[in-house]
Amino acid sequence: MDHEAERAALVTAYRALKDEGLIVGRAGNVSLRVADGLLITPSAVRAERMQPHDVASVPFEGSARGRPSSEWRFHRDLLAARADLCAVVHTHSVNATALAVLRRPIPASHYMVAMAGGHEVPLAPYATFGTEALSAAIVATLHTVDACLLANHGVVAAGATLEVALDLAREVELLATIHRAALAVGDPVVLPPEEMDRVLAAFRDYGR
Ligand code: 13P
Repeated sequence: MDHEAERAALVTAYRALKDEGLIVGRAGNVSLRVADGLLITPSAVRAERMQPHDVASVPFEGSARGRPSSEWRFHRDLLAARADLCAVVHTHSVNATALAVLRRPIPASHYMVAMAGGHEVPLAPYATFGTEALSAAIVATLHTVDACLLANHGVVAAGATLEVALDLAREVELLATIHRAALAVGDPVVLPPEEMDRVLAAFRDYGR
C-alpha cells in the first residue's frame, strides 16, 4: 500500500473530528495532497470502521482509485487551485452549519475570524453536494481565505498541513458557537475593517 503514513493520518484525523463531535455519522471528509493528486477519506464509511486501505486516491488528471468521498471534486479543485494548501477538511459541525442554514457568514464578532485569513468566514452559495457547481462556488469563495461556510450544508477549512486545516475547522465551529450564543441575547458588535487589518497583520507575525 502506498502512502501508508498519510492514509493513517487521514483516518486518525477523521476519527478525531468524530470524537470531538464535529463529524456526526458519516457527514464529513478529509483530504491530503500527495504527488500528482490527493488522498481522501472514503465515501459512506463510519469512523469506527474506516481503515487506511479504505482511503481513496484522486489524481489531478484521470480517474480515482478506491471509493472516494462524494465530495472529492471540491477537494481536488481547491488543492489544484491553491498551491499553498495541502489539506482540506469538510464537516457539518452543528453551530457553523446552523449559521449556514440561515445563510449568514460569521462576521468579525470575535477577532479570531482572522485565523481564516480575512475579515469574516464567508458563505459560499448553495449547490448540490458533489457537483461541479459546488466545487466552483467553494474555489471562488476560498480565493483569498482558507475557510468558509456552505449554504444549507456545512463548512470547508483548509491549510498548509493537516493539523492547520483541522485546527481551522475546530476554530470555525468555536466562532460559530460564540456568535450564535451572542445572537441569542442581542446584536453582536462586529469589529471594523481597520481593526481586522491590524489583527491580520499581528497574525502574520504570530505565525498562523
Ligand atoms: P461522503 O461520505 O461521501 O464523504 O459524504 C459525506 C458528506 O459530507 C457530503 O457532503
